Amino acid sequence: MILVTGGAGFIGSNFVLDWLVQSDEPVVNLDKLTYAGNLNNLASLNQDPRHIFVQGDIGDQAHVARLLAEHRPRAIVHFAAESHVDRSISGPAAFIETNVNGSFALLEAARAYWSALAAADKEAFRFLHVSTDEVYGSLGPDDAPFSETTPYAPNSPYSASKAASDHLVRAYHHTYGMPVLTTNCSNNYGPYHFPEKLIPLIITNARAGKALPIYGDGQQVRDWLYVSDHCAAIRRVLADGRLGEVYNVGGWNEKANLDVVHTLCDILDQLDPKAQGSYREQITYVQDRPGHDRRYAIDARKLERELGWKPAETFESGIRKTVQWFLDHQDWVCDVQSGDYLKWIDKNYAQRASQEIA
Ligand code: NAD
Ligand code: DAU
Repeated sequence: MILVTGGAGFIGSNFVLDWLVQSDEPVVNLDKLTYAGNLNNLASLNQDPRHIFVQGDIGDQAHVARLLAEHRPRAIVHFAAESHVDRSISGPAAFIETNVNGSFALLEAARAYWSALAAADKEAFRFLHVSTDEVYGSLGPDDAPFSETTPYAPNSPYSASKAASDHLVRAYHHTYGMPVLTTNCSNNYGPYHFPEKLIPLIITNARAGKALPIYGDGQQVRDWLYVSDHCAAIRRVLADGRLGEVYNVGGWNEKANLDVVHTLCDILDQLDPKAQGSYREQITYVQDRPGHDRRYAIDARKLERELGWKPAETFESGIRKTVQWFLDHQDWVCDVQSGDYLKWIDKNYAQRASQEIA
């Protein structure tokens, strides 16, 4: 079996669901169930004995050690993190606690477990660390996309905390010989995406008749990847990645935020038209994110060359599926938009007075 951390979050739950479609190998899913963790994402596995959910903190080394001893996984796939850049700006402490200290505790528990394995199991064991392209910093308009050798230059408390965990993972390979793999992926979107992030926020706000907030001039560029393509990449790296190596994962889908929002409005105009006018009329420019990275772009050629991975979805197919998923899952949306969610939305957007863009 494998141990997944953070498997009740957006990407982790997609990974667990896809994993159990592709294989019968059981998954132990360790998740603290923070505001971002949601067992409803995994409701289809409620009666499935291949999924063992454990509520717990990756920073609780003794608990992780007990889980490893009990279930004896052949691999750990580490998703658990605080993941929202805006939250890292208003409250960085939780990011250091989970992304740095938590990853350290997890690595220590994994190292003790791996060191004591019998030779063949030790050889086969893998620790796959799921990271982000944000550790590389921000690109200029004409810069080449991030490769695996781009120097680290994290700009937010979130990306700095992820960079710290990447360095720890690297060091555990270099120093102790631990069989680690790291993936650095671009922006994901798809089912179960928590509506604090741009794409699900725009879809849910649009349908609720609320403002569609664009930070700054909306010309920041992100490289979008449909979440199941990210999950497929992780499975490929876990199966055949070279130990100690880093693999960048991206969709070759660079888009300016404003273009993404226009696309979402246009799809909604087709699939769920308003009584009058277009959803585009709800677009509102608001104060920018402090230290906002201007452009991310991923060069994923190493993953394609070495492991034959390519995204299956284009942006056009993936974004249409995503809008349709949100239209079809109103109950899920209503459930996640609970008290705590509303408090965050109020905190993040109340302070961002809307502004006119020429
Ligand atoms: P998410 O915020 O949706 O989910 C994070 C999950 O981790 C939640 O279920 C949460 O309950 C759990 N968690 C948080 N702290 C924990 C702790 N201390 N112990 C155990 N569980 C804990 O995040 P996501 O968007 O699914 O991202 C998953 C991983 O992928 C993160 O490591 C993130 O940095 C990385 N990543 C995300 C993206 C993206 O676009 N979302 C892109 C590249 C990489
Ligand atoms: O690049 C990978 C990263 O992508 C992951 O590591 C992070 O976990 C994930 O959250 C995501 O980070 P971003 O900051 O790029 O995603 P977010 O959806 O928060 O924002 C996308 C872009 O949209 C960014 O330029 C900020 C902008 N934005 C965001 C929100 C929430 C807006 O213009 N308005 C908004 O209300």
